[in-house]
Amino acid sequence: MNFTSETHGKIILMGEHAVVYGQPAITIPLLNLNTQVEVQPSLQAADYLDSTYYCGPLAQVPPSLEGMAALINLLIKDLPIESHLKIKVLSDLPIERGMGSSAATGSAICKALFAFANTHLTYEDLLHYTNFSEKIIHGTPSGVDAVTVNASQPIYYIRPDRISTFNMNLQGILVIIDSGMRGNTGAAVHDLRILKQHRPQLVEPLLQELGSLSQQTKQAVSSNQLPRLGQLFQRAQQILQTLQVSNHQLDILCQRTQAAGSLGTKITGGGRGGCLISLAADQTTAQHIKTAALSAGAQQVWLQPLTNY
Ligand code: MEV
Repeated sequence: MNFTSETHGKIILMGEHAVVYGQPAITIPLLNLNTQVEVQPSLQAADYLDSTYYCGPLAQVPPSLEGMAALINLLIKDLPIESHLKIKVLSDLPIERGMGSSAATGSAICKALFAFANTHLTYEDLLHYTNFSEKIIHGTPSGVDAVTVNASQPIYYIRPDRISTFNMNLQGILVIIDSGMRGNTGAAVHDLRILKQHRPQLVEPLLQELGSLSQQTKQAVSSNQLPRLGQLFQRAQQILQTLQVSNHQLDILCQRTQAAGSLGTKITGGGRGGCLISLAADQTTAQHIKTAALSAGAQQVWLQPLTNY
């Protein structure tokens, strides 16, 4: 018998990196981009993984999938599962782009294996197992990705467990731009920690300011202040540049989106590659931003309306 589960992606609107240090972050679930996991008994004498990036025995996954394999092994140990498994992972989410692909995969694996084992899954367990693989992949995750991929509304999050949902009332379009460069969240978080140790007077006030930008973002998105949100994006991007988690190509993409009429553009997620988010007042501007980003080397662009979120 087959057991299938699905988990969607996420975007951090504000507060990435600062959220690791206890500042608030604002995130939205990306309800149309999903990772799907299908589990069935394996016909072979070993657990087997079938994914876009690797097909073969679970015991031989490449290093980039070790977090996922460790999670599967833990779940097989913790759950009443007798047979070997074939686990198929299909995803709309590009990996290492700050869109929550690793958390969505971890969460979908967890849900599918619990269903296969006919065992009730609590929300706490879902977060626990999702964060288990996130720790292997990213080192010291704040937990915001695990929370957001399992939410259906915008989230205001302070680690470890202050989670509140709210509704957005924003007449605008979020243009999500995949730079085509893989980001490395673990490395970016690690390097920022070193920078913070060496230059606390520079880094600590900026992390606090990012936290304050998250609070202002919540106000702006709750009261339909689109131009204000654009300004907040701009300031966040300046800070993230100073914290060295942007890079030259991302900065160029920011400039091009600006010239195409964006109200503000910033990285989303770990940075050093991955995605940018850019704010458009209407569909026409969003299309201009999309065209500008693609002609400046972006790989993929999604338009996410922010109304009725
Ligand atoms: C990752 O999506 C966002 C970071 O803030 C890291 C984290 O919160 O774990 C960079």
